[in-house]
Parts: sequence; structure tokens; C-alpha cells
Amino acid sequence: MSEITVLAVVSEIYPLIKTGGLADVAGALAGALAAEGVAVVTLVPGYPAVMSKINAAEPVLIEPDLFGGGAQVLRANAAGLDLFVLDAPHLFARPGGPYMGPDGLDWPDNPFRFAALCQIAARLALGECPQFRPGIVHGHDWQAGLTAAYLAYDGRPRPATVITIHNLAFQGQYPASLLAPLGLPPRAFVLEGVEYYGTIGFLKAGLSLSDRITTVSPAYAAEIRTPEHGMGLDGLLRARSDCLTGIVNGIDDAIWNPEQDAWLAAPYSFETRAKRGLNKAALQKLFGLAADQDAPLFGVVSRLAWQKGIDLILANLDLIEQIGGQLAVLGSGEASLEEAFRAAAKARPGRVSAMIGYDERMAHMIQASADALLIPSRFEPCGLTQLCAMRYGAVPVAARVGGLMDTIIDANEMAIASSLGTGILFSPVTSGGLGVAIERARRLWDAPKVFDRIRANGMKTDVSWRRPAAAYARLFRELASAGTR
Ligand code: ADP
Ligand code: GLC
Repeated sequence: MSEITVLAVVSEIYPLIKTGGLADVAGALAGALAAEGVAVVTLVPGYPAVMSKINAAEPVLIEPDLFGGGAQVLRANAAGLDLFVLDAPHLFARPGGPYMGPDGLDWPDNPFRFAALCQIAARLALGECPQFRPGIVHGHDWQAGLTAAYLAYDGRPRPATVITIHNLAFQGQYPASLLAPLGLPPRAFVLEGVEYYGTIGFLKAGLSLSDRITTVSPAYAAEIRTPEHGMGLDGLLRARSDCLTGIVNGIDDAIWNPEQDAWLAAPYSFETRAKRGLNKAALQKLFGLAADQDAPLFGVVSRLAWQKGIDLILANLDLIEQIGGQLAVLGSGEASLEEAFRAAAKARPGRVSAMIGYDERMAHMIQASADALLIPSRFEPCGLTQLCAMRYGAVPVAARVGGLMDTIIDANEMAIASSLGTGILFSPVTSGGLGVAIERARRLWDAPKVFDRIRANGMKTDVSWRRPAAAYARLFRELASAGTR
């Protein structure tokens, strides 16, 4: 197996900086590809959270004026990740998140911040850092979209490019007047280039100009080619169908390992899964829920956003109480949803509880304690929490969309008869649809042997990165073998 080198380009990477599953994927995929003989070096922005965690940093490229300030690229190592860090203080050294300031508004200079990332990626791809010659450039989401554009309009021979869509809802769309300030030539402003309904589309550019497009599940790859889910890009994606594939995500099974999880009250294995009850008792205490092993405990670990269908859970609180269930929510996001859960917890003491915030330990505790995890997403490119849930023995109750339907086997009559089901899938994705699914969960709960079989099937499912990493490696090898373009 020949060694190939990939330059990954991404705006967040676990465990250095994370707002969602993108970071998990960027971190874990790099490690999993190493086992496939694919060496990944990841270019990330030098946010304060990244700068404070890197060590052995050595400058490999210096740029006196990168969109208005000096910058350097550091070759660095952190948490086992091989990195290029774009140290550009005028763009990244500020408090707040990767995309938004502390006021919750997008940074106004986002087009320049991520164009800078892409421009540097293109220069690294073209060999401007001595000894680094990637065979593939792999960009993630809109923030990496312009990489393919800078490469296309540079004209020098370039490595093959792949872009992965993690979420089509975020596209990076900016005024046409930024074309020259972003360092793009007038000829780039065409349908086959960066032009997008009269504006500049970062993701659109990546989708038009990359050699291959992947997304994070086959079902989402199909959905985004329809007007209903294509978010304005379905026409382009249909036109590029031959270059588009879906590869489901995995999870890092070292980080998500119930046998060796120091965050749990009681670690457990497949064989000792009955010990989940100890975690359930601990969680009920932590969350102020009634100590009751017989009540089916529904968990939620999620961004609180429209995408995630969180409002559908709020609409089912009466039902959860009526069937004798409990609800433990961990999440943060839209203020109105945060407030609604705080109020629900107050109104339903002992039955509903919400921890508003981001807390990794608590995410692990919920996965190890909940009997079922609710995931009523309106759309879900892949989703990682259902994979964690299966590995930890929480039965996912999820919308029949995107990656959720590619990773969960609905425990219907026949699946149960064949000992195959790993969760509950529902449609339509409405409060009524979720209600029916919650009632199904309750009926299965009433048949403890069947419920435990579903739990066990989930725990036995391979949700690791092994298969997906092999699929990425095959794609990269095939493209790299064709040489530079
Ligand atoms: P998305 O990226 O759309 O938010 P995913 O399911 O792909 O959805 O990934 C979400 C990731 O973030 C998972 O690793 C999940 O455990 C984690 N997560 C989400 N909300 C929280 C939270 N409030 N606290 C801790 N981890 C969270
Ligand atoms: C996005 C999607 C999520 C996916 C994650 C990682 O955040 O919303 O479904 O799992 O990216 O690919």
C-alpha cells in the first residue's frame, strides 16, 4: 500500500476547538486514515484555543500581508494531530467562537478569515512549504470552499481536490464586490466558478471546482440533489452527480468507550451492560430527576437549533410524562429553546430536567444512562450522537432522514423477529410523528427482553471509523494515482 499525503483544510478540530460534529470528524478521521497508510496534515486557523494547545511549532511559511496583517504558518503537533496552524492574529486572535463574536453575531470579516485559510491551503498544496507535497487536498464545508478556487485560477499544476459537505445549510455567501479584495480574478465570477445567484458562494465554489464531492451519508447525498433539501445547490449537485458520494461518519471508539470512560459513574462493557443502571441512578441524582429505574429515561445531547427538531420534543412533554417517562436534556443554542427547556424543567420537577450548556462529561453520562436518545432532526447530514448512543446502549429514537436512516435499523416487527433492530426511526418529522415513536419506545420498554436485544444490537454495531476511513482512503488513492492536474 503506497503512502499518500493529504492536506486537510478545516475550521475546527477536536480536541482543540469544537462547535459540532465537524470537529469530531476532522480529528478522528485523520487518526483513522493513518491506519490506512494515508498521512493527513490538517490546516486550521490559529484561534486562541488552538495557539494555547500547540507545541513544537515551527514557522514554515511567512506572509507579511495576508488580508491586512502579517501571518505565519506553523507546523505543529497537538493531541496527536499533525497540523499546519495559520497564525494570523488580526484574523483569529480574538475572544468568542470560531465564527461568531461573544455577541452571537458572525464576525464581519468572516469572508477574509476563511479566504485566508483557503489561500494558504492553496499555497501549501502548490508546494510552497519545502518537503510538503500533498497528493490530495481535502476541504471541509464552506470555510474551505475557496481552496479549490485559488488552485483553479492559479494555473500551476495542482494536486487533486475533494470537498466534503457536512451541512448544506451553511454556505458562506458574500457580496460580489468582494471578488477583487478576496484576490479572485474577474474570470472567476462565472456559473462554473464562484458566482452564486449574483454573489460569491464559498461552498458553491468548492462544489463547482473540486474534483470530487463527498458528503457524510449516502442518504444525504441523495437528499441534497432534490429541490426540497438542496438549499439552492441541488441543480449543481445533480449536474455533478458522477463526482458525488456519501460516506457515513464513524466515532472515535477510544474516546467513546464505555469500558474505559473515566467520566462515567460506573464504566461497563457489553456483558456488564446491566451496570448502566448505576449510571442512570447517578444521572437522575445529578439532574434532579426522581430516583426510578422503571421510568424510561429519554436523553437529549444536541445543539438547540431548528435543524435538530428540538421544538418537537417540547411539544411532547405531556406525552413523556403520561407514559411515565423522564427527560434529561443537555444542549445549548437558540435562546428561545434554552428558555423553553428551563421553564419546562421548572414546571415538571423530577420528570424533566435541562442542563443548558456544553459539557463533554455530561454528554458521556447521558449516553451511558439514558434508555433512549431522542434525535428528531428535520435534516441530518450524518449525526454522531446516534452512533455514540448505540455504542453506549441508549436506543436512538430518530427521524427517518439523512445519516440517521443510514445508521439506524428500525426495530419493526420483522427486524425484531430477525434480531436486527438497533433503534426507532420515524416519519413524518412532526410532533405527532415523534409522539408515535415515543409510544413505540414505551411499548418496547414494556418488553424488557426485546428492549435489551435492541440495546445489545446497537452495542454490537461497528460505529468506528474503520470502514469509513477505508472508503476515504480508496477515494484518495484513486484520485492521487491520476497525478497532478
Ligand atoms: P452537529 O454537528 O450537527 O451538531 P453531530 O451529531 O454530528 O451534530 O455532532 C454533535 C457533537 O457535539 C457530538 O459529538 C455531541 O456529543 C456533541 N454535543 C452536542 N451538544 C453538546 C453539549 N451540549 N455538550 C457536549 N457535547 C455536545
Ligand atoms: C454537521 C452535521 C452532522 C454531521 C456533522 C459531521 O454538523 O449537522 O449531521 O454529523 O456535520 O459530519
